[in-house]
Amino acid sequence: MLAGRLVLNPDFRVAPVSRRTFGSFVEHLGRCVYTGIYEPGHATADADGFRGDVLDLVRELGVSTVRYPGGNFVSGYRWEDGVGPVEDRPARLDLAWHTLEPNTFGLHEFLRWADKAEIEPMMAVNLGTRGVQEALDLLEYTNIAGGTAFSEQRRANGADEPFAIRMWCLGNEMDGPWQVGHKTAYEYGRLASETARAMRLVDDRLELVACGSSAPDLPTFGEWERVVLTETYDEVDYISVHRYYEIKGDDLHSFLGSVVDMDRFVDSVVATADHVKAVKKSDKQIDLSFDEWNVWYQSRAASVPPQGADWPVGPVLLEDQYSAADAVVVGNMLISLLRHSDRVTSASQAQLVNVIAPIMTEPGGRAWRQTIFYPFAQASALAQGTVLRVEPVSPTFPTVQHGDVPSVDAVATWDEGTGRLAVFLVNRNPSEPVTVDVDLAAFGALALSEASTLTSDDPYDHNTADEPDRVVPVAREDVTVEGGVLTIELPAVSWSTVLLAAV
Ligand code: AHR
Repeated sequence: MLAGRLVLNPDFRVAPVSRRTFGSFVEHLGRCVYTGIYEPGHATADADGFRGDVLDLVRELGVSTVRYPGGNFVSGYRWEDGVGPVEDRPARLDLAWHTLEPNTFGLHEFLRWADKAEIEPMMAVNLGTRGVQEALDLLEYTNIAGGTAFSEQRRANGADEPFAIRMWCLGNEMDGPWQVGHKTAYEYGRLASETARAMRLVDDRLELVACGSSAPDLPTFGEWERVVLTETYDEVDYISVHRYYEIKGDDLHSFLGSVVDMDRFVDSVVATADHVKAVKKSDKQIDLSFDEWNVWYQSRAASVPPQGADWPVGPVLLEDQYSAADAVVVGNMLISLLRHSDRVTSASQAQLVNVIAPIMTEPGGRAWRQTIFYPFAQASALAQGTVLRVEPVSPTFPTVQHGDVPSVDAVATWDEGTGRLAVFLVNRNPSEPVTVDVDLAAFGALALSEASTLTSDDPYDHNTADEPDRVVPVAREDVTVEGGVLTIELPAVSWSTVLLAAV
């Protein structure tokens, strides 16, 4: 049996846990909205047409913020199409996903749903086919109390009080050639800066996110953030970060080591932001909004938008089925987000329902939890107080893409007020269990409250509507705490949580 070790100490502080770490993303894409969160006529739908089974799962997932309405979709979206009487709303071609957008679900529906789901909305403006004026119009509609054309239109449409939306994304992935209205870094930086400046004149309480680079294989990668932040530094609060991982071929080893890449990427964007800060001699710090992250099998056929004569409404797109190994990588990504809490203060898993998502639905039928639901829900529920840095020591395994990767990765949170210590661990080793000793001596007397592990004999096992509980976290009865040392065996390819409380 392999052995690992880690030391926890309340002095190893990173930053307070940010609730916004546990954000998600709803895009008008595939079945995320239509037959996902919204399905009038479904047995569980409420008077607004929102699926009750999905709302329950969203609350259980512990989502804090939801980014909306895209994604690539937003780069061709006219927000005005989605407000006012539903029967008057136009159907439009959505060029991003080759889909017909009926606009029966729009701004008011989303914000009403967000209210019911108890989440903070994070809106994106279209900087693909549109610009400063349309962003200002939308902001006037959502955030001005009344007495102006757009705010009175909102009131006439049934929302007397302003929506008071704080978080705004200035476009989406504008470096991507796939994007409608794709721009160079300089073009986008200028537009984002002008838009941000104008939006702050309407409402000075906004938190604004500039688009970072979206994929490492683009020619602008590495340079995009420097140019964009040089143009926008004084006007924005965040630079966005997007990253997806998948198993390439049958290279499970590299996939399990994906977070080595994620950690480096975050560190490199932080370094660029701080470089621009130094050049500008600014006192202001730009944080990271990791507003798209997940496992996404982009190479699978269903990820490709269908082209042709048909423009379907809410087609099956990007409906990945997640395995136990995927849940471990998602858990590891959450560990990475938490350990970077000093700079990554907002994040959105992409996406929430059906489209590369923790929650799946059948049209007119059942809803269930994918494997990746569990690490998210557990981390959201258990991470409280302050994030503690952890440096586990464990045997490595070889990977093609990332070199030798330590088997164990971990992070912890410590809530001094309640005396609760939560530890999140993954064993990424593809074949070997690791027994880990966790040194707790610095905390005084702690008792074990609960522990659980998600794993499976076959790392490719997944949940389905017929077998929804095949891969779930299982309570651990074999974890010991003796002489200030907690000992837990981590199976190969596993995600574990441990909760301790001061006695
Ligand atoms: O989340 C799916 C897509 O991935 C989003 O629309 C886009 O922003 C990214 O490329």
